[in-house]
Amino acid sequence: MEAIVCSEFGPVENLSIQELPDPVPNAGEVLIHVNAIGVNFPDALLVRGLYQVKPALPFTPGIECAGTIAALGEGVEGFSVGDRVAAMSPRFGTYSGAVTVPASHAYAIPDGLDFDHAGAMLCAHGTAYHALVQRAALRPGETLLVAGAAGGTGLAAVQIGHALGAHVIAACSSEDKMRIAKQHGADIAIHTGENDVREAVKSLTGGAGADVIFDPVGGDLAQSLARSTAWNGRWLVIGFAEGEIPKIPLNLPLVKGYSIVGVFWGSFCHHDPAQAQANHRELFDMAAGGSVKPHLHAVMPLKEATEALSQIERREVRGKIVLKP
Ligand SMILES: NC(=O)c1ccc[n+]([C@@H]2O[C@H](COP(=O)([O-])OP(=O)(O)OC[C@H]3O[C@@H](n4cnc5c(N)ncnc54)[C@H](OP(=O)(O)O)[C@@H]3O)[C@@H](O)[C@H]2O)c1
Repeated sequence: MEAIVCSEFGPVENLSIQELPDPVPNAGEVLIHVNAIGVNFPDALLVRGLYQVKPALPFTPGIECAGTIAALGEGVEGFSVGDRVAAMSPRFGTYSGAVTVPASHAYAIPDGLDFDHAGAMLCAHGTAYHALVQRAALRPGETLLVAGAAGGTGLAAVQIGHALGAHVIAACSSEDKMRIAKQHGADIAIHTGENDVREAVKSLTGGAGADVIFDPVGGDLAQSLARSTAWNGRWLVIGFAEGEIPKIPLNLPLVKGYSIVGVFWGSFCHHDPAQAQANHRELFDMAAGGSVKPHLHAVMPLKEATEALSQIERREVRGKIVLKP
């Protein structure tokens, strides 16, 4: 099989493509012949050695994919060879023609959903769904503010928030990104480069602030978001795409009576596999029905993994890029 290999931590340009033997599934695992791979911001962090965990070198990056089950490890029940699945890989390795994952981390793809969309759904949509449903308990009619709203997790949050009946405010850095967010369910969009975000949210919510804030950006923007949350609000900490982990004065959640809520989809899949299965089944059904389908920015051959990751780092991607082995 072909696989992208990271031999030393550093720029994504250092990645190479190599021919490696197919992995063999251990007990409880399935072997997947990969058809589509979702590219994610954390993949670039991992290659640069900036992610929460550092795998032993050399390694193959990638946390999600879709494909066909090619072999079952001992004791696996509920799957057969030939089943179409999407999967998250807790040990990375999906930038490849084949990967083994625990059977608990494979999710059956319904008819009506293709490999490209299924392979791009787990990380971004899985994170957004877990954040909005389990962590924020978003209710219909509440105001949801999404930062980085045209990016992978952001656009997923816009779609899911809209589908759950929230009033969605998108915050993005360009007119084009604002347009895409509106196409995918945002009721209104704020240009983060041209507006004072705190003042804009205040005026759009009659001074109340947003009930739920979905923040994958962090950095300076987070200082405005920390002052834009409504009484009883929930500020979802998703990530720090801007690079800086913000420091927030704790008097703000005290005075304004809001909660700061951490979200970690990968750990959630590990700690609560049954709920993760239920979430991903619900998401796939929504996708097959058309209400939350990922926006595919580009579909590229696997050998262009470096270019795909560079586009994410250059802040160019709207929605998701898919790689094809
Ligand atoms: N907690 C979890 O479980 C989880 C799961 C997936 C991802 N994440 C994290 O969430 C963050 C975003 O992931 P994503 O998949 O949404 O990424 P993405 O598709 O690249 O989108 C990130 C957005 O952040 C904004 N941004 C601001 N400054 C940026 C910069 N210097 N470089 C790149 N983007 C910048 C951009 O929007 P504008 O141009 O509109 O500002 C961009 O569209 C990452 O830190 C990632 O590690 C966390």
